[in-house]
Amino acid sequence: MAQALLLPLIEAKKIAPENIFAVVKNTASVKRLKSELPNGLNLVTADDSNAFKAWQSAIVLLSVKPQQFSEVIDQAKQIVFPKEFSSLLVSLVAGQSLSKLQESFPHHFSTRAVPNAPAFVRAGLTGISWSKTIKAEQKSLVKDLFNPVSEVLELPESQLDAFLALTSSGPAYVALVSEALADGAVSVGLPRHLANHLAHRTIAGTAALLNEKDMHPGQLKDMVASPAGTTIAALRKLEKSALRSALIEAVVAAFERSQELSDLSRQGGNSK
Ligand SMILES: NC(=O)c1ccc[n+]([C@@H]2O[C@H](COP(=O)([O-])OP(=O)(O)OC[C@H]3O[C@@H](n4cnc5c(N)ncnc54)[C@H](OP(=O)(O)O)[C@@H]3O)[C@@H](O)[C@H]2O)c1
Repeated sequence: MAQALLLPLIEAKKIAPENIFAVVKNTASVKRLKSELPNGLNLVTADDSNAFKAWQSAIVLLSVKPQQFSEVIDQAKQIVFPKEFSSLLVSLVAGQSLSKLQESFPHHFSTRAVPNAPAFVRAGLTGISWSKTIKAEQKSLVKDLFNPVSEVLELPESQLDAFLALTSSGPAYVALVSEALADGAVSVGLPRHLANHLAHRTIAGTAALLNEKDMHPGQLKDMVASPAGTTIAALRKLEKSALRSALIEAVVAAFERSQELSDLSRQGGNSK
């Protein structure tokens, strides 16, 4: 995710690779990433003697998995910060609240951001919540980080788990639907590659239509389903299989899991 955000900024020359100080966990990742990332970008493992430089950057982008978070807190505790030091920390880590971030990284102004995978093709959505003390110019710096790859929505922290349950986990639900639609088409004779392509394009085209015409989904469904036609026959099957209920429950389950991760982190537990 960190790469999805940084590479477009490097491409647009908004930031020079030399000014990026990236830290990963494993030596193997350094080797792999050196061949993938632009020349000049600084890249070390967390146990490298230069890793402290990342912590002292003007913006720290924290993009580790939730279960790696506590290790990162321990690493940050080893850093000696100059007197009066304060910089920005942008956390992408699911389920880590602003108060937990502020408590864990007292030398930084913390911000929580929830991006989603379509950011890889610059079609993402990012929800951001700010800590109370953040300054206007810091907000604008953070938005500049996400704007090239996503629509940015500023939200109260109380809405971030719901945002995540729909938008951040959402690409997995849609991918599953796309795969199943293609399986259906293969079942009735289309070659796999064509079926996959058609399923992706049907989903992308439908989303564009709903979005651009600001259409209610029910209106589009009624428009496509003609009396005694093929679509209404298919819709009957979907209702019988409770597709809508399954999707509603999926979003609720992701929301509940995100809240559970936040509770675990508040209690200092291990978020698996
Ligand atoms: N991927 C998504 O679609 C998505 C969407 C929304 C939000 N997010 C959030 O973004 C965060 C990152 O997700 P991701 O998919 O980008 O994860 P990822 O691909 O697994 O990247 C995590 C990175 O953290 C590094 N790392 C792990 N432990 C570390 C440590 N102790 N010190 C320094 N670096 C360490 C890893 O290094 P190694 O490579 O050496 O292990 C790896 O480069 C997660 O919290 C996730 O919830 C992701």
